[in-house]
Amino acid sequence: MRNVLSVTSECAPLVKTGGLADVAGALPAAVAEHGWDMRTILPAYPSVLSQVKTQKAVLEEEDLFGGPARILSATGVGLRLFLVDAPHLFDRDGLPYLDPEGVDWKDNPERFAALSWMAMRIATEGAGKWKPEIVHCHDWQAGLTPVYLDGKKNAPGSIMTVHNVAFHGLAPANLCAKLRLPPSGFTQSGFEFWRQISALKAGLMWATKITTVSPTYARELLRPEFGMGLDGVLAGRRHDLSGILNGIDKVAWDPETDPEIATYKTPKGKAKAKKKLRDEFGLGDAGGPLTVVVSRLSDQKGLDLLLDALPVLTDRGGQLALLGSGDKALEARFRKAAEHPHVAVHIGYDEAKAHRMIAGADAILVPSRFEPCGLTQLYGLRYGTVPVVAYTGGLVDTVINASPAALRAGVATGIQFNPITVDGLAQALFALLDLY
Ligand code: ADP
Ligand code: GLC
Repeated sequence: MRNVLSVTSECAPLVKTGGLADVAGALPAAVAEHGWDMRTILPAYPSVLSQVKTQKAVLEEEDLFGGPARILSATGVGLRLFLVDAPHLFDRDGLPYLDPEGVDWKDNPERFAALSWMAMRIATEGAGKWKPEIVHCHDWQAGLTPVYLDGKKNAPGSIMTVHNVAFHGLAPANLCAKLRLPPSGFTQSGFEFWRQISALKAGLMWATKITTVSPTYARELLRPEFGMGLDGVLAGRRHDLSGILNGIDKVAWDPETDPEIATYKTPKGKAKAKKKLRDEFGLGDAGGPLTVVVSRLSDQKGLDLLLDALPVLTDRGGQLALLGSGDKALEARFRKAAEHPHVAVHIGYDEAKAHRMIAGADAILVPSRFEPCGLTQLYGLRYGTVPVVAYTGGLVDTVINASPAALRAGVATGIQFNPITVDGLAQALFALLDLY
C-alpha cells in the first residue's frame, strides 16, 4: 500500500455543502482499488465528532492560532480520519463556513490555515506509524498546506485540486505573520492576489502538481472568462495541470439498492418512483415530462435562466420539481414560480429527497453558467434520468448530446445547450419535449 493524505474541509456523509464532500468521501474507496491507502484530515466539527469513533490524540499543538489543538485519529462510515480538534476554531454551531446568520465566519482564514498546518505536521512527522508520500489538497481551504510544506525536511509531494476557482479564500495582508506565512511569499509570483492573501493561489503556486475535476474545465481555467483572475497563474503552470473527471460513489447512488426508492431495474420500477415523486410534490400527471433540479441556488448554477424559460416547459404539460437553497432572491423567485400548477419547489437541503427526485424524474436540469464537473447529471445518468445541461466544464465531458446523428447511432445520453442563455435553454427544453 502507498499512502496519501487527503486534506478537505468537508467529507460526505459526515459534513457536506456540495460536491466537494461527495468526492472527498468517495475517493478513499476508489483509490484503494489501485493500492493506495488514503486517509482524510478534516476539522473536528461537532457534527463530525458525534458520528465517528475517535481514538487517541496522535499529535498536539500548544497554540494553533489562539488555542490548543490536537489531531484525533478516528474511524467511521468506512473512512480513516484525522480530525483537527481545536475547539476555539471548530466547536460552534452553524455550517462549516457560515455562522448561524449565514455570514462567513470572521476567522475563516485562521480556521482553514489550522487545517492546512496540521496536515503539514502529519505529512512531515507522521501520525503514529502512518506517513503519506503524497498530500492531496482540495480547494482553498487546504491551499496553504503546500506553502507550509515548503523547505521542511521529509516533505512529501503535493497535489492541489481545484473544485471551483470561484472561491479564493482571501485574507487581509496583515494576517501574514499570524498565519505563519513567509513574508517573502507575499508577491505577485507568490500568494498575493490584489494586495490580499489568496489561499487558493498559494496552493496553485506551491503544489507539486495541480488537477481539476474535468478535462474541459482544465482548458477553460486558462481563459479569462473562467479563470476568475487566476487564469494567468494557471497558464504559467499549464504543464503541471491536468483535468481528471470526477467519479461518483456507486454504492451511495445505486438504483438497485437505494433505500429511498422501491429499487428498480425496469421501466415499470422507474414509473413507480415517478408516481411517488409527483405525490410527494403535489403534482398531478400533466402529460409531459417531469423534470427536477437539485442544486445550490447561486449565480453559477444558471437557474435564473430556467425561471425565464419555464413557460416553454409548462405550456406543453412539462413539470418542474426543485430542491435547493442559497441565494435569497432566487429562493423567493422559485417560491413565486411554484404558484403555477406544474411547478413545485422545496427550499432546503435534504439528502434523502434528492435521491427520490433524481430517481423519479424523467430529466434533470443543470443549466450552469460554469460547472467544474457537476455530479447531479452523473447521478441522473445512473438512475435513467436524462440530463439537460449547459455546454460547459464537466457537463461537456459527461453527456453525449442527442443530436440527430447521435440519436441514429444510439449513443446519445442527454441534451446539451449552447449558448448558455434563456433561448439556449428554451431550445433544449423544446428538444426534451419532442423526445419525450
Ligand atoms: P456543487 O458542488 O457546485 O454544489 P455538484 O453537482 O458537484 O455541485 O454537487 C452538488 C451535490 O450537492 C450533489 O450531491 C447534490 O445532490 C447535492 N445537493 C445540492 N443541493 C442540495 C439540496 N438542496 N439538498 C440535497 N442535496 C443537495
Ligand atoms: C465544485 C464544483 C462542481 C464539482 C464539485 C466536486 O463544488 O462546483 O462542479 O462537481 O466541486 O468536484
